[in-house]
Amino acid sequence: MSEFVSVVRGVGGYLPERVLSNDDLAKMVDTTDEWIAARTGIRKRHIAADGEFTSDLGTIAAKRALEAAGLTPNDIDLIVVATATPDHTFPATATIIQQKLGMTHGAGFDLQAVCSGFVFAIATADNFLVRGQFERALVIGAETFSRILDWSDRSTCVLFGDGAGAVVLERQEKKKAGDRGVKGIHLRTDGRYKDLLFVDGGPSTTQTVGKLRMVGNQVFKHAVGKISESVLASVKQAGLEIKDIDWFVPHQANQRILSAVAERLGLEEHKVVSTVAEHGNTSAASVPLALAAATDDGRVKPGDLVLIEAIGGGLAWGSALIRV
Ligand code: UT7
Repeated sequence: MSEFVSVVRGVGGYLPERVLSNDDLAKMVDTTDEWIAARTGIRKRHIAADGEFTSDLGTIAAKRALEAAGLTPNDIDLIVVATATPDHTFPATATIIQQKLGMTHGAGFDLQAVCSGFVFAIATADNFLVRGQFERALVIGAETFSRILDWSDRSTCVLFGDGAGAVVLERQEKKKAGDRGVKGIHLRTDGRYKDLLFVDGGPSTTQTVGKLRMVGNQVFKHAVGKISESVLASVKQAGLEIKDIDWFVPHQANQRILSAVAERLGLEEHKVVSTVAEHGNTSAASVPLALAAATDDGRVKPGDLVLIEAIGGGLAWGSALIRV
């Protein structure tokens, strides 16, 4: 057993200025505010400005997380960016954020697990920190999904938005951390379901970026069961029980999914952090954005046990328990 744990030092989020409401979308495709709100809970989403890139969103979220932690880029030696919408095919968006933060030390890389990217990135950074390979990590989820949407497809374009969230994770001795830290993690993928949610382009296949395609109702069917099983696995690994969870901070894809998961797990509604109405599905950014919102408004307090989870393209899904 390691003598070290990864502890959350600060959280930050950023949403681009431009807002696109459901009524705005109703002028673009055959949809209504009523349909979108009733089927998803989404009221609006934020769209990155021309010339505003995933790295810009991620850099602002990172700066806010550093500020919340009382740290500077000098204190960070690892950057893990979860994104499915990198600035470029390469280099990694993490290296661009590293440069924008003015860092000339440490290492950064991108991680691709689509909507589950932030959970996978926390797991990855946690392993590096606990093994002692790095001291402090910026774990960032940053996306500009507006750039890969088919804006004529009402079944997908109403669901997604742009944004970024970031967490500073720090390696601490267990003695110092007390009960804080990353407790349990469960990650899964199953490529048999890759055609349920994918982008129909890429450097190796079409030499284009491609557009997002989704069989939404099929993804929905997988979501509730797979997330619930994953949460139970994380809770078991951590030696905890569902009743110990103070806050459920899920991937913000659809209010119906997160309510159904909470109900299946027996998590009371008042413990569920939902920001889906405010920004829609921001893929890898949605969990840290929701965590930042609930931290900034004082709901999530030091010492609380937070459950995060996500599912998306791959299919890839997972969950983690963190005492913040
Ligand atoms: O983050 C990655 C993970 N992704 C998700 O978790 C998404 C999971 N899926 C979902 O959230 C839901 O399946 C959707 C919100 C995408 C769709 O809701 P649904 O209740 O599963 O609806 P549906 O796809 O079965 O479609 C029902 C009807 C269809 O019309 P017909 O065939 O019944 O006449 C659709 O054509 O709703 C229609 N429809 C729309 N109507 C108005 C689909 N999109 C729209 C729209 N406005 N935007």
